[in-house]
Amino acid sequence: MIQPHGADRLRPLFIENRDERETLLREAAELPALILNSAAAANAVMLGAGYFTPLEGFMNLSDTLSVSEHMQTEEGLFWPVPCINRANNISAIEGASKIALLDPNIKGNPVLAIQDIDKIESISDSQLSQVTEQIFGTLDPQHPGVDTFSGLGKYLISGPIKVLNFSYFETDFTGTFKTATEIRNEIKKNNWERVVAFQTRNPMHRAHEELCKIAKDAVDADGVLIHMLLGKLKPGDIPADIRDAAIRKMVELYFPEKTVLVTGYGFDMLYAGPKEALLHAIFRQNAGCTHLIVGRDHAGVGDFYGPFEAQTIFENNMIESALEIDIFKADHTAYSKKLNKVVMLRDAPDHSKDDFVMLSGTKVREMLAAGKDLPIEFARPEVAKILMSYYQQDKNP
Ligand code: ADX
Repeated sequence: MIQPHGADRLRPLFIENRDERETLLREAAELPALILNSAAAANAVMLGAGYFTPLEGFMNLSDTLSVSEHMQTEEGLFWPVPCINRANNISAIEGASKIALLDPNIKGNPVLAIQDIDKIESISDSQLSQVTEQIFGTLDPQHPGVDTFSGLGKYLISGPIKVLNFSYFETDFTGTFKTATEIRNEIKKNNWERVVAFQTRNPMHRAHEELCKIAKDAVDADGVLIHMLLGKLKPGDIPADIRDAAIRKMVELYFPEKTVLVTGYGFDMLYAGPKEALLHAIFRQNAGCTHLIVGRDHAGVGDFYGPFEAQTIFENNMIESALEIDIFKADHTAYSKKLNKVVMLRDAPDHSKDDFVMLSGTKVREMLAAGKDLPIEFARPEVAKILMSYYQQDKNP
C-alpha cells in the first residue's frame, strides 16, 4: 500500500488505549485549559485521525511562516497550509507547560486533547497578512476562509498533542466519519491496490458521479473513495448530513456494488483553492489512496481562483518529489445534449457551450428553493428529491 506522507507508517495522535485515555482525561481536568477555535479543533481531529501524518502537533511561528511561504517546514517537510492553534486570549494558560484543549463545538466544552506547550508566540499584523495572502491568495474579507482565518487570534500556541476523541464527528456522523487508519484497513480488506479519492463538500450530481467513473477507468483503480468534508461550511452550502444521505443514495443506485467507499473527515472548509488541494492530496495519501481527483475550481469559492489553478499548483518539482499520490486532473464535466451522456469538455472538442446542460451552484439553490425540479440530465431524480425535501422543509413544517 502507498506510504503515508513523510513517514514509513501512519502516526495518528489519538490515544488508542482506553486506560491511558482515561488517565489523561483525569489529568486534563486539573490542567490549565484553553477553549479552541473551531479551526484548531479541526486540526486536532485531523492529527488524531492520522490524516496529518507526520505532524506531531501545532506549528510554531517559524514553521508557520516557512510553510506559508515555501510550503515546507523548517526541517524541509512538504506541507502546504500551517497546522496551528491560535488564540486571542492566553491569560488562562500563561506559564503552563501542559494544557487541556477544550472542544468549542460541543456543549459544555469537553476536553478534546492535551498539548505540551513548546512556545507561545505572538504573530504581528504584518506577518498575519502575509500568511493569509500566501494561504488564500487574497486578503479580501469577502473570502469566507480569509474572514474566518483573520479572527483566529494573535497568539500561536505550538507543541505536540495527544488526542482523546474525535469531537462531534464520531457521534453525528457514525458510519461516515472514518480515520485514515480505518480507511487504510477497509482498502486492505477489499484487496484494493489502486484507489482514487474524490473530495467533496457538495451533494454529488451526474457530473460528479461520472467524474468518479471516468477517473476510476482512466487510472485503472479498483475502487473509489468518496471522502466528504464533515466540518464547518460557509452559509448556503448544503449541510453534511443531507449531503451524506444524497451521496449514499447515488452510490446505492448508480455504482456497481463494492466499488465505492462513502466516508468523511472532520475538518472545516478553508476555501483555499490550490493550497487546500495540496492538503487534500496529503491526507488522501495518508488514507491509502493512490490517486486524487482534482477538477474544476477545486476547493474554490466565488471567482477567487482560476478554474484550474488547483491543478497547476502540483506542477512543481519539490511537490512532485514529496508526494506519492498522483493527481487525476479532470476537465470541466457536464451533460452533452448531443451525445446524451456526461463527458469532460476536452473529450468533446466539436461542442459549443450550448450543447451542454450546465447549472451554477447558485442556480441550483434557486431552483430548489423555488420548488422547481432539477433537470434529469443534471441530477439523479432520487438525489434531487432528498435535496428538494431539505430546501422545502421550512415551508412545510
Ligand atoms: S470542493 O470544494 O470540495 O472541491 P465540490 O464538492 O463542488 O467542491 O467538488 C468536488 C470535486 O469535483 C472537486 O475536485 C471539483 O474540482 C470537482 N468538480 C465539481 N464540479 C465539477 C465539474 N462540473 N467539472 C469538473 N470538476 C468538477
